[in-house]
Amino acid sequence: MEAQNLSFSLSSTIPTSQIQIQKTPSLQFLLRTKKNHSLNLKGIFLKPHFCFSPKNKKIECRNCLQRVESEGSTVLDDGVSKQVRKKKLAVFVSGGGSNFKSIYEATADGIVHGVVVVLVTNKLDCGGAKYAREQGIPLILFPKAKDSSEGWSTEDLVYALRTWNIDFILLAGYLKLIPTELVQAFPRSIFNIHPSLLPAFGGKGYYGMKVHKAVIASGARYSGPTIHHVDEHYDTGRILAQGVVPVLANDTAETLAARVLQEEHKLYVEVAAALCEERVVWRQDGVPLIRSKEDPDHYK
Ligand code: GRF
Repeated sequence: MEAQNLSFSLSSTIPTSQIQIQKTPSLQFLLRTKKNHSLNLKGIFLKPHFCFSPKNKKIECRNCLQRVESEGSTVLDDGVSKQVRKKKLAVFVSGGGSNFKSIYEATADGIVHGVVVVLVTNKLDCGGAKYAREQGIPLILFPKAKDSSEGWSTEDLVYALRTWNIDFILLAGYLKLIPTELVQAFPRSIFNIHPSLLPAFGGKGYYGMKVHKAVIASGARYSGPTIHHVDEHYDTGRILAQGVVPVLANDTAETLAARVLQEEHKLYVEVAAALCEERVVWRQDGVPLIRSKEDPDHYK
């Protein structure tokens, strides 16, 4: 491993002479302080080291991305035993991150044959970002905030996700529109979860409690999450999976949201498992379907 001194532009209080960068055989550079300091970077608490992307962009990180490179292939027994490489996932969040957490736990438990390589967020202090820090998952701030040098450009994000061979991007409560460049760079690979039965109660402005209030006000008797392919618009991509819950006569937006969220956790894990086991197939008209694990001739 080659070590060299680094001069860099982070607003840390530690002199650059005390910092070493190590170029590793894999993609990233590890940054460590000689005294194993924690760095406090613009109010963000960082553990002793963090990583840089191939383009030398800053990523909060505890356990470096190197661990991902060591993940090998595994045999899955789904009736037809086949060799499937663990898929690399990037999850995008803006809020509490309960869907991210359930996907991450499912990867850790082996229910989802994948690994969460990176968390992308537009809010470094949201619950999802906090959970990523606790788990040592690298964190990227995207997009760049207005009037700030913090955050990544779309170009850098696309470059890094491609370089890390990300297989799937899972949006889990990420409130920003995904730029065209990113959508085009990852065809058939980006999915989002929405808390209503699309195409009803979707599109710009339909997020959070607004969705559930509109569902209750409409008199709809059923609601539930939809996981759909992501295109350049809000909530218009083809539907991959849906879950149904009842809307009760005395529901408030909060009680309905809680019921839907519970269903979301189940549905997103099922979908992530299907993606990672290569059980998602695309109908000729562009609709994605999930091949059943038990009966390979059956699609849902
Ligand atoms: C979920 O209701 C999801 O459908 C929507 O945003 C919410 C995210 O919740 N897109 P959480 O952050 O996963 O808890």
